[in-house]
Amino acid sequence: MSRDITISVLKFNPRDEDSKPEFVEYNLKETPGMTLFIALTKIREEIDADLSFDFVCRAGICGSCGMVVNGVPTLACRTLIENYPDGKLQLIPMPAFELIKDLSVNTGKWMDNMSTKVESWIVSNDEVDITKIEEKMDPDTADAVFELDRCIECGICVASCATALMRPDFVGPAGLNRIARFSIDPRDKRTDDDFYELIGDDNGIFGCMSLLSCEDHCPKHLPLQNKIAYLRRKLVSVK
Ligand code: SF4
Ligand code: FES
Repeated sequence: MSRDITISVLKFNPRDEDSKPEFVEYNLKETPGMTLFIALTKIREEIDADLSFDFVCRAGICGSCGMVVNGVPTLACRTLIENYPDGKLQLIPMPAFELIKDLSVNTGKWMDNMSTKVESWIVSNDEVDITKIEEKMDPDTADAVFELDRCIECGICVASCATALMRPDFVGPAGLNRIARFSIDPRDKRTDDDFYELIGDDNGIFGCMSLLSCEDHCPKHLPLQNKIAYLRRKLVSVK
């Protein structure tokens, strides 16, 4: 027999001056293998067409569906309802990002600002000759770069981070991971001094309080704390 579940959602439309933040409860039946994506879609199709939330891939790849479920930032498309024994889920939008409406937040704007701040691209004066075959990279180095390049920009590490909630200009675990990624890429010619210029302050590497929540919640299991510690050791010696 299928279970009755209750999903409570913090609804608010900041663009509507009559809208006030309020929790709205939805009661529905659980179906086998039901994810939060399926439950929210059912609510929107059958109960409340006005409910806003974001999804694209439904497979933990696009990073669109981050939300806070019972106090924990997580990807809703990877959240199984059966993992909540009492069948009660409370959903709020991820903090630290601009609220669009209900559970929908603008992670893209935050990621864009962060990418500009940390200059998230390969910096080099080398001329690129497109008629030549790409330069080879040592396989171990390529693996190490790929490991950090797996970030899907979901923002969950940022929503989990106490510093990011207190300092709007903090580049966050995702931004520090970006610097770690470029610092090991041999095509990037930036020195430690150059990276220090970008993140050598409290809005960068020295803002992290090492609470570890970013790594605990990252759906891609990126070694965020390890990389933050590595960067801090590397940059603390820059004069
Ligand atoms: S580091 Fe992990 S949690 Fe943070 S944005 Fe990337 S994938 Fe998401
Ligand atoms: S919908 Fe793409 S990660 Fe969840």
